[in-house]
Amino acid sequence: MAEGGILIDDGVDGRCGCVVERFIQDHPRSHHNAELRAADVGATVVLMGWVHGARDHGGTIFIDLRDKRGVTQVRFDPSVSKDAHGVADGLRSEDCIAIQGEVVHRGDNVNPKIDTGEIEVWARRVEVFSKAKTPPFPISDDVDAGEALRLKFRYLDLRRQVYQRAIAMRSGIVQSIRASLHGGGFLDIETPILTKSTPEGARDYLVPSQVHPGEFFALPQSPQIFKQLLMISGFERYYQIARCFRDEDLRADRQPEFTQLDLEMSFVGQAEVFAVVESCMAAVVQESMGISIPLPFPRMSHAEAIARFGTDKPDTRFGLEIANVSALVADVEFKVFSGTVKKGGMVSCLAVPGGATAFSRSALDAMPDIVSPYGAKGLAWVKLSPDGWTGPIAKFLPDEVRQGIAEQAGADVGDLIFFVADQPKVVHDSLAALRNHLGRTLELIDEGRHDFLWVTDFPMFDKADGGWTSSHHPFTSPATDALDTFDSDPGGAGSQAYDLVLNGVELGSGSVRIHDPDVQARVFRTLGISDEEAKGRFGFFLEALSYGTPPHAGIALGIDRIAMLMAGADSLREVTAFPKTQRATCLMSETPSTVDPAQLQELHIKVR
Ligand code: AMO
Ligand code: AMP
Repeated sequence: MAEGGILIDDGVDGRCGCVVERFIQDHPRSHHNAELRAADVGATVVLMGWVHGARDHGGTIFIDLRDKRGVTQVRFDPSVSKDAHGVADGLRSEDCIAIQGEVVHRGDNVNPKIDTGEIEVWARRVEVFSKAKTPPFPISDDVDAGEALRLKFRYLDLRRQVYQRAIAMRSGIVQSIRASLHGGGFLDIETPILTKSTPEGARDYLVPSQVHPGEFFALPQSPQIFKQLLMISGFERYYQIARCFRDEDLRADRQPEFTQLDLEMSFVGQAEVFAVVESCMAAVVQESMGISIPLPFPRMSHAEAIARFGTDKPDTRFGLEIANVSALVADVEFKVFSGTVKKGGMVSCLAVPGGATAFSRSALDAMPDIVSPYGAKGLAWVKLSPDGWTGPIAKFLPDEVRQGIAEQAGADVGDLIFFVADQPKVVHDSLAALRNHLGRTLELIDEGRHDFLWVTDFPMFDKADGGWTSSHHPFTSPATDALDTFDSDPGGAGSQAYDLVLNGVELGSGSVRIHDPDVQARVFRTLGISDEEAKGRFGFFLEALSYGTPPHAGIALGIDRIAMLMAGADSLREVTAFPKTQRATCLMSETPSTVDPAQLQELHIKVR
């Protein structure tokens, strides 16, 4: 025996000469690499994983052995096994290996930063499963390699603990969702991937048919039509973890292919859908984060959300609410304000508590950059200093107007007020963006909060190119009080659509559906879709609606977005194993790519 109770090399070859399969059979892994503690001292263990780093301390080699759970320090001492030490001497980062050895207490060298920091394993054997080329970037959570390089070598980037944790969390979220819905009597039913265009407002990905020249399938933008058909078929409660495909402009919270928790229920209205989603999300948050969230979620009408926050997805974790001061400034000398109101626009403002001293002049001068992407032509401001209102436009605002604005905006001495004057959409979008910017930069957001919010009573239609588009999708039911009037007054019609928002991010959208084929036909006509076109695009669905359709309602939540928020990530790419870039490409597999001319010929396709 050597010091520390370790068996000295007993003549067994330090490197197992058998094939890898045989090694795994004879030496099954005994622990994962975040598992061993002081209580395990003396045990003989087999660990497997990747060489995370190697250090040579005067002839003793230390290797951090990493697996998906964590890291254990392995010590190779020539006095324990010359052969194992010899092999360890040739190990490099990311070599994939197994070791067998004995757990020893680290004594004075305990590392409190890692779970296994009390112990190390003194290796007697090492098996090299496979050698690694030098990786293009270090596999470490503080890696500073560019994202393009990391996406090209995504399989290596995924070895990092942040991704191991995020992807595992995502899997847990899906598990919680399935358990919750299965327990609620929902059936998991798959719907086709090769299908027909489903209108969700994006372009379709098309798939040519080899058997039918010139004909195409579309990949689903969502299972919308099929889930409604399942209600007509009598399944009553359907859900699916569904892949969806949308060829659209991408942002951090959009991917061209993504996953929805899609669900639909019969013989219900909005209230039942809300209750199901609330208990499902409560289970997800409880099981993935150990946090219990209060139910039911608060609700706010679309109109109120726009008026108070300028957006239909308000982050309610902080204040800075918006106030409409159009009436107060309709006649002031400052033409930007009064002129805008006279032209049918509006002036709204946002007060920043303590803002009079919070911004330097150069910070204020840079502030219009936050709102200009939304069409704002400027960003006026005033400071409510102790000796009166100051700033470039203060002189144009008489006392009674100042008083009214301060009241409306909830502003007091020491605050600063920002103003935008324009058409309502520009004003709302600009102030909503400014509000989020200030919430972040002034650190007004309590990051520990999970503010779920139902936004209800969306408008039925939005204006578009002289006509109307669906504000949600064409299968959404008009509000009950708009059933007779939505086609004569589309702009005034409310709908039974709702969104679920979490911390200012749209998690999901849904609606009570149209179940009356006549109402459905009138909606298509209002959207400028002729009866003939509707028949061509959705004929099978319109036909189905006429065979006794139950009232039904549903919703779809973005699984990627849920995972992103639960993991505290900023982008869907951080919670998607193999994501696409902002340009909808995969840098690793180099797709999309050209195909063999013979393949095109088989598909009856000529590229122009
Ligand atoms: P909608 O189009 O609003 O509704 O989509 C529902 C939810 O899906 C997620 N989502 C996305 N996630 C990542 N990348 C994308 N490109 C993307 N697009 C949408 C969002 C969104 O809230 N059929 C309707 C639902 C229904 O009415 O039941 C639908 O698809 O989280
Ligand atoms: P000007 O008279 O153009 O120099 O503008 C005076 C101030 O009003 C500047 O701070 C501008 O940023 C601001 N301003 C200009 N147009 C608008 C607008 N449409 N809404 C709000 N502020 C504006």
